[in-house]
Amino acid sequence: MQSLHGGDSTFTILQTDDDGLTLMLAKFSALEETPVHDHGSWGIACVVRGRDRYRHYRIEGGKVRLLYEKELTQGSFVTWPDPPHDIHSQQGIGDAAWELVLFGKDVTEIPRHYHDLETGKVRTALPR
Ligand SMILES: [Fe+2]
Repeated sequence: MQSLHGGDSTFTILQTDDDGLTLMLAKFSALEETPVHDHGSWGIACVVRGRDRYRHYRIEGGKVRLLYEKELTQGSFVTWPDPPHDIHSQQGIGDAAWELVLFGKDVTEIPRHYHDLETGKVRTALPR
């Protein structure tokens, strides 16, 4: 497992198909929320163990705003479409949340955008 988004959360890639379809196993820390970020791809995140506080955002009037927040438990999932509708953050509740995340593209090759909601600044970084 490698560090995810430079924080306490971790991930490993289980499979990447020739067309880019990519399956990730991720462990979202309860110690800190991931930064608000995107992946440049649609995705499906399904909790396999633990609980996750999932937050989804959208850009409105040039600003990133919270669209909804959802608590995910074992077996429940969220989906998000392609950019620019793929902005989210996650955090384990009480303990780490383990999830299978399926992406439509090979997200290990796509730069991510990290949004600072307080300053409005956007940082772009490669996943590794
Ligand atoms: Fe993500």
